[in-house]
Amino acid sequence: MPNYQEFHRRSIEDRDGFWAEQARRIEWQTPPQRICNYDQPPFARWFEGGTTNLCHNAIDRHLKDRADQPALIAVSTETDSERTYSYAQLHSQVQCMAAALLDLGVRKGDRVLVYMPMIAEASFAMLACARIGAIHSVVFGGFASVSLASRIEDASPTVIVSADAGSRGGKVVPYKHLLDEAIALSSHKPQAVLMVDRQLAPMALTAGRDHTWASLQQKHQNAVVPCEWVDATHPSYTLYTSGTTGKPKGVQRDTGGYAVALAASMETIFCGKPGETYFCTSDIGWVVGHSYIIYGPLLAGMATILYEGLPIRPDGGIWWSLVEKYQVTVMFSAPTAIRVLKKQDPALLTRYDLSSLRTLFLAGEPLDEPTATWISQGLGKAIIDNYWQTESGWPILTIANGVEKAASKFGSPGVAMYGYDAKLLDESTGQELLGADQKGVLTIEGPLPPGCMQTVWKDDARFVKTYWESIPGKLVYNTFDWATRDKDGYYFILGRTDDVINVAGHRLGTREIEECIAGHPNISEVAVVGVADNLKGQVAMAFAIVKDTSGLVDDASRFALEGEVMKLVDQSIGAIGRPARVRFVTLLPKTRSGKLLRRAIQAVCEGRDPGDLTTMEDPSALQQIKDMV
Ligand code: PRX
Repeated sequence: MPNYQEFHRRSIEDRDGFWAEQARRIEWQTPPQRICNYDQPPFARWFEGGTTNLCHNAIDRHLKDRADQPALIAVSTETDSERTYSYAQLHSQVQCMAAALLDLGVRKGDRVLVYMPMIAEASFAMLACARIGAIHSVVFGGFASVSLASRIEDASPTVIVSADAGSRGGKVVPYKHLLDEAIALSSHKPQAVLMVDRQLAPMALTAGRDHTWASLQQKHQNAVVPCEWVDATHPSYTLYTSGTTGKPKGVQRDTGGYAVALAASMETIFCGKPGETYFCTSDIGWVVGHSYIIYGPLLAGMATILYEGLPIRPDGGIWWSLVEKYQVTVMFSAPTAIRVLKKQDPALLTRYDLSSLRTLFLAGEPLDEPTATWISQGLGKAIIDNYWQTESGWPILTIANGVEKAASKFGSPGVAMYGYDAKLLDESTGQELLGADQKGVLTIEGPLPPGCMQTVWKDDARFVKTYWESIPGKLVYNTFDWATRDKDGYYFILGRTDDVINVAGHRLGTREIEECIAGHPNISEVAVVGVADNLKGQVAMAFAIVKDTSGLVDDASRFALEGEVMKLVDQSIGAIGRPARVRFVTLLPKTRSGKLLRRAIQAVCEGRDPGDLTTMEDPSALQQIKDMV
């Protein structure tokens, strides 16, 4: 077994040699001619000259050895259904979906927006896009019409694939009217809409535009659609994520680099073996779902579980019952989910035979020590924290036990993964912090390794400006996370440097929520901050200035307005963006130049010292908030 430090060092110092070896993990139609073209920093072009296909590597390649082995296990505790698709069955479903998309006019390079609940057809749609060289853009099913509309506008999809409804905790969540509203709001109109009818909610079809999956499925039942060989640098998908400004960014991912990075991570980090079962509890609307529900496990020849439902329904043992039933060896979840389970009967952790399970990986938000201890002791299994971002596509910091076994440290996701030349910099001077335990901004020296974002969709300038030019005097990738590193090279993440908050592992921009609330006719100004929460990690808290206060005479009227604002957020962004509280103030704390002091508000809400306030225009604004909380 090689030494990890040496493995990492080689990935940086002999970058091309290292990644040329990793590239052999996937099948190429034409092998790459140049491993990394970094002639135009910060744009990295990985495996240039190579042609491949993500769907070929995820499905077709395995047919020879495992056609009859399970590939996709779709479980829904919402509709009480369970269905296993073998690699051969998945192959035929994906070809059928590919034929349907082609029939609806989708061509290589076109975008297909997928707005779906966690059902098998969502994965068919993603894989079908990869098969024909179309670029999928999955939008989380929990987003409402305004968020969806901005993504339709930016991605300009030829076709949208959706379903009549999702379901959460036994409650049907209709999708179709949100989709219709979003299309009406967007200036871009898709040529066609492909609707999966789960018969959960009525849906009105627009003649000439909307088609049902059932009818197209019948038409293309035994379709044979060969994989379209695409350049390694051909975009496989875009995925929207929040940043400092209100407008979400379309993170654009390539094909070859992504396939290589995921295939490598499956062996070196997750230690998953072909024929085994992987269970990732995320959602396909997030990056973890893209990489580790769909592509990673399938690239590795594993079976993957796609789970629709809550972790506590019918009871808190549901996930463990699936581990037993499907002999799951590798599991991936988020700390929030574990904190939810922690409120249930601990006996549920030992009710099932979990002997197949080797490791539980957790990511997406800080893993607190009580949660980590509770779950590792309860399961008697190794827990591995891993830190990464939508932008990176695979772990930046963790432990690569598939390279060399190493111990985890509580509170730390681990060390820098191979390919990532991680550095801590002083935010204002750009100076590298080399000493142990110094707090700085976590940055990555270019080129970013394979699998990471190529650019911001249709906006190279924004990619450069946002991610690479935020530290003075240095072209370096900014993660926008504060961190320290100890003497052994383990990093500790201390939170975002920007206006991004993390609610139950969901990444949200406070500016997006502010823009939405400011759309209320009786709100003139608003500040939204993330406040620490025991269960969700953080929750959004809003402080708003009311235009006409004459109606706000008592608690009941304030409560009514608060309800209206929350409903507005639910309807535009979705319930995940809803602030825990909306408080009404007459003034917001600002600097003399008019900048909102969100950090000071956050500190006050968390009972911390707000720090240096010498630039604040009117201290009574902060006092008002202090008195309230
Ligand atoms: O702030 C970090 C936090 O989540 C952000 C990225 O969120 P997202 O783009 O949704 O990607 C999640 C992929 C796992 C990061 O900038 N974050 C993610 N993982 C961790 C974390 N914070 C602390 N510990 C982690 N393990």
